[in-house]
Amino acid sequence: MAFLFNSDAARGAVFRQVFARELPNLEFYHCSENIDPDKVRYLLTWNVPDEVSRFRNLEVLFSIGAGVDQFKPETVPGHVKLVRMVEDGIIRMMQEYVVLGVLALHREMLAYREQQRRGMWQALTSSQTTERRVGFLGLGMLAHAAIDRLKPFGFPLAAWSRSKKVVEGVTCFHGEDQLAGFLMETDILVCLLPLTEQTRGILNAKLFSFLPMGARLLHVGRGPQLDQTALIEALDGGRLAAAMLDVTDPEPLPEGHALWSHPKVMITPHIASVTQPHTAALSVIENIRRHRAGKNPIGLVDRTLGY
Ligand code: GLV
Repeated sequence: MAFLFNSDAARGAVFRQVFARELPNLEFYHCSENIDPDKVRYLLTWNVPDEVSRFRNLEVLFSIGAGVDQFKPETVPGHVKLVRMVEDGIIRMMQEYVVLGVLALHREMLAYREQQRRGMWQALTSSQTTERRVGFLGLGMLAHAAIDRLKPFGFPLAAWSRSKKVVEGVTCFHGEDQLAGFLMETDILVCLLPLTEQTRGILNAKLFSFLPMGARLLHVGRGPQLDQTALIEALDGGRLAAAMLDVTDPEPLPEGHALWSHPKVMITPHIASVTQPHTAALSVIENIRRHRAGKNPIGLVDRTLGY
C-alpha cells in the first residue's frame, strides 16, 4: 500500500520525512521513482495525471492546492474520494493577504503609489473603517478565517454564499436573489469563490453595476471568474476605484496587457496563499487516518457542486 507524491521534489522531501515519522507502514513514493501502480492507494497532485486509470486501487486523490477546479473529475472513477487541501499554512497566508489587501484598498495605497510615481505629496480623504463595508463573495473556510482576522478593525462585514449560512458579526446573504442587495452595500468586495461553471465570469459588468461608485475589488479566487475587460471599464468609468488581483486569466497576463500598467490595479502572481509542506503533510496524514477509520476526509469535494 503506497502514497504517491506527484509534485515538486523540495516539498516531496518534507512530506517524505513527516510520513516516515507519522505513518511508517505506508510506503512513500515521489513521482520520479518507479512504482508498481497497483500499490497506489493515495495520490497527491495538482493536475489529475493522464494515466490515473492505471492506479486501479486508488482510494483518495488529494489536491496539493486549496482549489480543485484544475481536476477533471470525470476522468477519476466515481468511488475515488477527491479532497481539497485544507491546512494551516494556506489558511494563515490567506488571512495575511486578505487583511493586507483590504487595508491597502481602504487606505488608498494604490492611489498613493500612483501619486508617488508622479512625484506628488498629497493627502487623500479616506473613510473610517466603520464606514467602509467589506463584503465577501464566497463564505467557505478561507473566507471565515479571513473574516476572523478583519473583525478587530471595525469594518461592517457581510458575505454572500450559494446556500444560507449564519456567521456571528457578519450580515449574510445567499442565493441569486440576494446578490444585488449584497453588492449594493459593499465598498470593498473580496472574491474568495471556488471556480465552478456557476462562478465562471461572475465578476462582470452587471455585477460591478450594483456596487456603489468608487467601490474596490480584492480578487483572490480564480482568474476565469473575472471579466477583465469589464474590470477595466469599471475602473475607467469610476464604478471601481481600485483593484488588487492575485489571479488573472491567463497567468501570467501577456506582455503589454492593459492590466499590467493600469494605475488603479495591483497584481501579485498568485501568491496570496501557498501550500506549506510541513503543515500540509500533517493534514493529509490526518485525512488518511480519517479515511481508514471510515470517516470522510476534511475538504472532501462534492462532485456535484465541483468544490
Ligand atoms: C491556490 O490557488 C490553491 O489552490 O492552493
